[in-house]
This record gives sequence, structure tokens and C-alpha cells, in this order.
Amino acid sequence: MILAIETSCDDTGIAVIKASSKGPIFNVLSNIVSSQAEVHKKWGGVYPMLAKREHQRNLVPVLTQALEQAKLLKISKSKFLISKQIQNPKSKMLESILEREPELLKKLLLFLKKYQKPDIDAIAITTGPGLEPCLWVGVNFAKALSYTWNIPVVAVNHVEAHILINFLPKINEIFNYQFLISNQFSNSNFQKLMPAVCLVVSGGHTQVILMENFGKYKILGETRDDAAGECFDKVAKILGLGYPGGPIVAAKVAQFSISNFQFPIKLPRPMINTKDYDFSFSGLKTAVLYNYKSQPEKIRRNKKYILEICAETQQAIIDVLLKKTIKAAKDYKAKTIILGGGVAANDELRKQFIKNCKLRIENCNLLIPNKDLCTDNALMVAVAGYFRFKQGKTENWRDIEAEANLRLE
Ligand code: KG4
Ligand code: ZN
Repeated sequence: MILAIETSCDDTGIAVIKASSKGPIFNVLSNIVSSQAEVHKKWGGVYPMLAKREHQRNLVPVLTQALEQAKLLKISKSKFLISKQIQNPKSKMLESILEREPELLKKLLLFLKKYQKPDIDAIAITTGPGLEPCLWVGVNFAKALSYTWNIPVVAVNHVEAHILINFLPKINEIFNYQFLISNQFSNSNFQKLMPAVCLVVSGGHTQVILMENFGKYKILGETRDDAAGECFDKVAKILGLGYPGGPIVAAKVAQFSISNFQFPIKLPRPMINTKDYDFSFSGLKTAVLYNYKSQPEKIRRNKKYILEICAETQQAIIDVLLKKTIKAAKDYKAKTIILGGGVAANDELRKQFIKNCKLRIENCNLLIPNKDLCTDNALMVAVAGYFRFKQGKTENWRDIEAEANLRLE
């Protein structure tokens, strides 16, 4: 049984999975995500200190909900005993672990007085990459739970978690995907999917990664400036559409028929023809800004113009992501293309990847997570944590640290 915690950006997530050693067969007992989108909306982006405050507020309620849904939440039989136990010297240690999160400490102490230790074997926690203050709240929370419950911690890389969620059988969309058709997962059918080329596209990351095995990765290319999701978010902000920009832009484009172009907007596809697997999206955002600023007020207010510039932005992003990923898959003779991250929830991107994988590469599997598992969640951390746990990669809570720039290599 694994409890996973995710706080690397603006979503507070906690999930519980039960995994049996034969298979492995995963049983998802709960997967709770508390989004802070409403809080960050008025700023048009995520403010790390504000996000940290929200994680402090949300973690204990989300933990309670996740354990309750997993049927692991049990009221303490002897309140007196537990409360005594939580006082010296345990509470002194908890005070020191959560020294920088006083609000979280207060809530956690109340929780620990009220509930028994749940039947959990390990705590999986995202240690990076991500926003440093946000990562630390989750890491300190995991340390506090690990210390109190006396169970080990498994450190999870957020980007790896976006990839490995694809290996949670049954809940993924599977295209031309011949090998993992049951929820019996074995090393032999896994090997038939390797090597894989992974595209992780989110608000914080845009990377093309070669995966040769679990835990064996090489970053082939990445963005040199903004991430693809960040580009969606910034373009939406320029156009005054709100936050997060990706789903808003996608919803606008869905209202629009391509045969109906009225404004001749042509945006750049930065680095589309370079020989590497790198990206650059900041120039695309600037091109949108210039186009928008150069328009008279009447056009800027024109709904049709907004729809068209959204459609062209989205297509420019998809064109570049598609071209570089397919190039990498061909160059490395990949047997599978794996998508992950918030931008992979984009309907048009999903459609165009399915179509192009069929047309442009032979015998290549394509794995795309369910839409709600593309954006940040703790289930992906649980899955990645499970694989590390099986390899014996557990740690003592004292040795775990957040690392904002953690790399997958
Ligand atoms: O993976 P994620 O939840 O967080 C990070 O690790 O960054 O990704 C969030 C990003 C945001 O930039 C958001 O605008 C984008 O994913 N996103 C989308 C869609 N849904 C979320 N971008 C395009 N189309 C979508 N449907
Ligand atoms: Zn993410």
C-alpha cells in the first residue's frame, strides 16, 4: 500500500494505491486533487509563495479525504494515549520538521490525535523538479508522516511520474498498443515497448526523453525558454482570456471551423526545422503579443479574431511538438511514443498524434494517459513510487530533500 503526495506546482494531490507483487496489479484506492486555479486566476500565473500557503491549508484535508476514500481512516481508540504520544518528544520533532509550515503543523497535530496510523507501507513524494517552496511543503509533510508512522519514504521525480502513469493499465487510452492489454503487467511485455520516446509537456516542462527501461532515461531535447503549457498560459493572458490558458485556448479553438479563416494570421513555428530535439516557445508568445498590439481596438475585441489567433497558436505548438517527437522516434527506432503532462490533455494534440503516429511511423505504439491524469496528480507519483519501492529505493525521512531543478538522467 503506497500513499503518494504531489505539491510541485499549484495542485495539492494525495493518492493511495494497493499493488500486489504478482503482476503488478494496481488497485487505485483514491486519487484526490485540490486545484488552486481559482486562487491564481487573478494573477494569470502561479505565485510560488501563494501556492505554498494553499498547500499548507489543503494537505491535511486532502489527506483525510484520500484515506477516507481508501477506507483507511480509523478514529483513534484511545485518544488519550495518542495525544500523549504526540506530545514530547514526538511533537518536538514534528515542530522541528514543520518549522517553516506552522499552519500545516497545527492541522497535522490535530489529525494525528484523531486518527490511527493507516495501513500504509511507504510514502511516495515528489522531490522535484518544480517550484521550490511548493516542493518543500510536500517534502516536509512526507517527512513528518514518515517519522510519525515509522514508514520509509520514496523520492519521485515529477517528470518520470508524468511518464510512468502510462503504465497504470486499464485506465489509459491505448492506440495500436498490442502488448499491455490486460491488467497483468510483466517485464516481458514491457520490454516489447522499449525503447520509447517520451514527450513531457506541461506548464513547467517540455522535454523529449529517450526511455530504455524503468529508471533509464536520457534527455534528448528540451525547451530553451518557455514550456509549451507556459506559452498557452501567457498567450491566454495577453488575449485577456484567463488562467490556466491551455484548456481555455483549446475550448475557444473547438468552437472554430478551420475553413472559416477571416484574418490572415501566420505565427512562427520556432525551431521546427533544427536538427536537434530542442524547443523554444517564447518567440511564439512574443509574435502573438505583436500581432495583438498591432490590431486596432475594434479587431482586438472581435471574437472571431480571438478564436483565430488561438487556433493558430495551438496549431503552431502542436506542429513543433509533433515534428520533433516523430523525428526522435524515427532516429532512435522507438517502439513506443509516450505522452505526458498537462498539455497532453489537449484534444487536438491527442488527435494529431494518433493520426501522425499511424501515418508517419511504422509499428510504433502510442501511449497517452487519460486526460485527468495528464495534469498534475498524485496517482502518477504513486505509480512511479511503486516501481522505485520494488527496486528497494526507499529512504529515511532525514535524507529526503526538495530539488527544484532535479533532472531525469
Ligand atoms: O502537468 P501540469 O498540470 O503542471 C505542470 O507540471 O506544469 O500542466 C499544466 C499546464 C498548464 O500550462 C495548462 O495550461 C496546460 O498544462 N494544459 C493544457 C490543457 N490542459 C492543461 N494545455 C493545452 N490544452 C489543454 N487541454
Ligand atoms: Zn506536471
